[in-house]
Amino acid sequence: MPKIETLRKYPPLGSLFRRVTETYKSPEGAKLTRDMNLIIPIYAIHHDPDIYEDPETFNPDRFEPEEVRQRHRCSFLPFGDGPRNCIGLRFGLLQTKIGLVALLSRFVFEASSTTPRSIRFARKSFTLTPDGGLWLNKVCSLTAEGIKMQLPLGSNSKCNHQVCFK
Ligand code: HEM
Repeated sequence: MPKIETLRKYPPLGSLFRRVTETYKSPEGAKLTRDMNLIIPIYAIHHDPDIYEDPETFNPDRFEPEEVRQRHRCSFLPFGDGPRNCIGLRFGLLQTKIGLVALLSRFVFEASSTTPRSIRFARKSFTLTPDGGLWLNKVCSLTAEGIKMQLPLGSNSKCNHQVCFK
């Protein structure tokens, strides 16, 4: 489940905001009083090594059902939780999947000299956004017959980029 692991490493919304409606004492002893404002740090939870071992490593196996069962249900919050969680959860996942399939079934991409090797986040963006964008080179395109052709299309030369034959 690579897209789920992507949402762990890069949750578009880094924090959730809540207001306490009833005074509550947590099992750990933290007291939350009515009208208190809370920030729930999604990004920090997703990168906590006590929850996700070696959190900077991209590892989709973390979302095998057996692994998920062993974690607290609030250790993964890209869509929030509770009665005000994201209403577009399924649509958002489906849309992302369709977008990826539409691109990857037609084109081959590779990193360019401007692709950042480690992502820095834009400071002025409310959502988690890579600073300066995330540039990739589109190197070849699939024809209707499934042949990878070098870009620009119409050049009629078959592609022999190493990346296309991996
Ligand atoms: C990958 C895509 C998306 C992500 C990561 C995302 C994330 C979130 C998060 C974190 C919240 C706050 C939840 C909370 O406070 O517990 C939220 C709320 C919301 N999202 Fe999304 N969202 C996504 C896509 C969408 C889409 C496609 C729609 C609509 C078609 C949508 C509509 C909403 C709405 C209306 C709320 C407010 C719900 C409420 O306050 O009751 N989202 N989203």
